[in-house]
Amino acid sequence: MIMTAKEMRAKRRKLVADWEALMRTFIKPENEATKTILLKYMEPILFGLHSFLNKHVGITEEVSIKELADQYKNSRINPYPEKKLADVITDLIENIAPHAVNIASPYFVGHMTSAIPFFMVHLKTITAALNQNVVKLETSKVVSVVEKQVLAKIHRLIYRKDDPFYEEHIQNPDTTLGCFTDGGTLANTTAMWVARNAAMPKTAGFKGIESEGLAAAYRYYGLERCVILVSRLGHYSLSKACGLLGIGNENLIPIDVDNRNKINIKQLRQIIRQLEKEKDRTKIMAVVGIAGTTETGNIDPLRELADICAEKKIHYHVDAAWGGPTLMSDKYAHLLDGIKYADSVTIDGHKQFYMPMTCGMVYFKDPHRMDHIAYHARYVNRPGSVDLGIKSLSGSREANSLILDSTLKIMGSKGFALLINHGIETAREFAKEIKKRPLFQLISPPELNILTYRICPEYLQKQFPAANQAEKNEINETMNYINQNIQRCQREAGKSFVSRTTLQLKRLFNRDIVVFRCVIMNPMTDKKILNDILDEQEEIFNYHFQDILLMGSGRLKLTAK
Ligand SMILES: Cc1ncc(COP(=O)(O)O)c(C=O)c1O
Repeated sequence: MIMTAKEMRAKRRKLVADWEALMRTFIKPENEATKTILLKYMEPILFGLHSFLNKHVGITEEVSIKELADQYKNSRINPYPEKKLADVITDLIENIAPHAVNIASPYFVGHMTSAIPFFMVHLKTITAALNQNVVKLETSKVVSVVEKQVLAKIHRLIYRKDDPFYEEHIQNPDTTLGCFTDGGTLANTTAMWVARNAAMPKTAGFKGIESEGLAAAYRYYGLERCVILVSRLGHYSLSKACGLLGIGNENLIPIDVDNRNKINIKQLRQIIRQLEKEKDRTKIMAVVGIAGTTETGNIDPLRELADICAEKKIHYHVDAAWGGPTLMSDKYAHLLDGIKYADSVTIDGHKQFYMPMTCGMVYFKDPHRMDHIAYHARYVNRPGSVDLGIKSLSGSREANSLILDSTLKIMGSKGFALLINHGIETAREFAKEIKKRPLFQLISPPELNILTYRICPEYLQKQFPAANQAEKNEINETMNYINQNIQRCQREAGKSFVSRTTLQLKRLFNRDIVVFRCVIMNPMTDKKILNDILDEQEEIFNYHFQDILLMGSGRLKLTAK
């Protein structure tokens, strides 16, 4: 039945879920009109967001999460379309973006998430438009070989093998230099999965832990447990991995750190010696070194760890989720000296490769190491194929390799080095400024681009060493209370954001202390902005908390001299 013009107009206004409307949303590349449609909708996204970011220089609007949660309590899917695409886009820009977090602000220096180059939006759009699925060649073709190429580039950055090595492996369907994951958590999990299977492999009388399971493996190898050793600053993704792999997260053994937040090698050796005494019951599955601890950004002595693991024949994993890209800086690559001896390495794309959420990667020194986790299916991932899903924890996944490969072409390692150097050097300048100000105390100086500090007036810092136990506790308790609340006030004010953590510093401070944690990765964050952040913290202190120290409120008996 042919509709009249009036009926058609009414139908358009009403928004209906019909076949005709649906077909308009599936873009046909052969259709010239699609160009106009794409441009029409891309413009408000790019320019709308751009002017939003210009208008809202702060971090987030002052609306509580409770108020927001109250607005999102509808659990019913509307059977009929509610909004046109144009309205949804306006809605996202006007109602969601202001209440999301402006992580691109140069005043946002609290987490490992920051501004990304503008071209990432374009690259992400291309990967979404292509919508390749890298699990298999049949849904990705050239993307799978581009992925193998970019994996070789980063592998080379870490392991620096020679040309014949990369000629042999770069496009070899039987070997694997690494794989893309959703993020650092799954990269670490993949590394531990491989380490677990390599520790309890297939033999003539046993099909391997992956086939027969943990109980059978422990029985066969005469074990009661497997353990993983990491400094107590190890990322909690390792605990998740231990839980998931059946190792048990209590068997992730935390090793103490020294005054520079690096794994205490002496204690590590001692614990390995102890564990060796129960060799018939306990297997050391892996030792993990950290190249950029989440809280303080420090790097473990990677070469020394490598020597220990080589001597004891233990899988050596380096979690360089944060610090990995430092290898592109000629000036600071030496900080990761020894990483090339690691059996496996985690690096995040969405951290210091400045890629959009989410992208992680894991690399293996031995191109056959990932054979321990190979899976085949009858319809895809057949033995001998290039299907990248064969050795990967994920199934379907997006073409992140296209984004990384393109980014490396746009920036070059020298471009990345500028970003890395800026972060490290700005953090050093910031540390100097903190030291200059009598209200602040630098707690962990930056080795990379992360540092921690707290508010603690100079006179208290000076009195601290001679104070008795009770006084020390009182100083730290009061300071913890003040720092925790200043961080909250600053976050709620919404102009700047520095994160907060609690460091276990009993040796130095007698108890755990609350600190501000500053991560400098945004190239637009400069000395002036960091000074503004300190000024704001000082203002909050003077306005709300000074009295606690000056007049006492019963909390602190030590007073200014
Ligand atoms: C050292 C380290 N490893 C692993 C991870 C986990 O990464 P993701 O959040 O990408 O899963 C992080 C995240 O901050 C990290 O700092």
